[in-house]
Amino acid sequence: MSADIIKGKELAHKLKEEMSKEVLFLKEQGLVPHLTVILIGDNPASKSYVNGKKKASGETGISSDVIEMGVSTSEKELLKKIQELNNDQSVHGILVQLPLPKHIDEQHVIEAISPAKDVDGFHPINIGRMITGKDTFLPCTPSGILTMLKSYDVTIEGKHAVIIGRSNIVGKPVGQLLLNENATVTYCHSKTTNLIDFTSKADILIVAVGRPNAIREEHIKEGAAVIDVGINRLEDGSLTGDVDFDAVFEKASYISPVPRGVGPMTITMLLQNTIKAAKGLSKSER
Ligand code: GUN
Repeated sequence: MSADIIKGKELAHKLKEEMSKEVLFLKEQGLVPHLTVILIGDNPASKSYVNGKKKASGETGISSDVIEMGVSTSEKELLKKIQELNNDQSVHGILVQLPLPKHIDEQHVIEAISPAKDVDGFHPINIGRMITGKDTFLPCTPSGILTMLKSYDVTIEGKHAVIIGRSNIVGKPVGQLLLNENATVTYCHSKTTNLIDFTSKADILIVAVGRPNAIREEHIKEGAAVIDVGINRLEDGSLTGDVDFDAVFEKASYISPVPRGVGPMTITMLLQNTIKAAKGLSKSER
């Protein structure tokens, strides 16, 4: 047996085409969805992610701007800028690229963004809504993963989903979303002993470890669906995930590649959230 490859990039392209049509329709009615990204400092990885977000917005007809602030920007200055954007009716989505310099408290920043403009889905109000299964902005990587599984008709209900990684951005929320879809969910992390005891029982395995080849053929249950969230840069400059793709490909029934897997879907979900924000689905929070 060999796996079906879950082609995130192709799926993202298809979804972006559909979104372009919706954006055109909104523009005809005088509504131009607008995303503002704040980038603090000059971390090259953050710069590259922000450029990707800007490019994808443009391709879909969503207007965007990037506010670059110096690495010595104070928390107070950043919070003031966020307040301005909260009050600006022409800005629908606000994203502050993480990580932030150490002197700025990330949680203060996340909580300063209006929940109605929180296209990252990181505000505690939106996290609460997600956990309770209410309509809200879902965090982008987890909702991208869910969209991939659903688009490839991977059964979630009643299945055992194992998540490796418990970050606030990926691991924790993706487990909640799978639970909302009636999966039985197990979280593994750096302190888990005998990881293989859990991964080998997973019908759906979500891998967000941050280490190349962390998950190999022996970790996998025959016929599992494996989603690789890892983005590791090798010495030769190429990108690779956390899963030994070639070996796992032979044993799994579905596998997502890196690159062209989860990454493009994350950005696509951000665009989806920006359109949702523009349409004001949670106007009461403005
Ligand atoms: N840094 C890495 N991933 C993310 C993300 O999804 N959103 C933001 N704002 N920063 C990030």
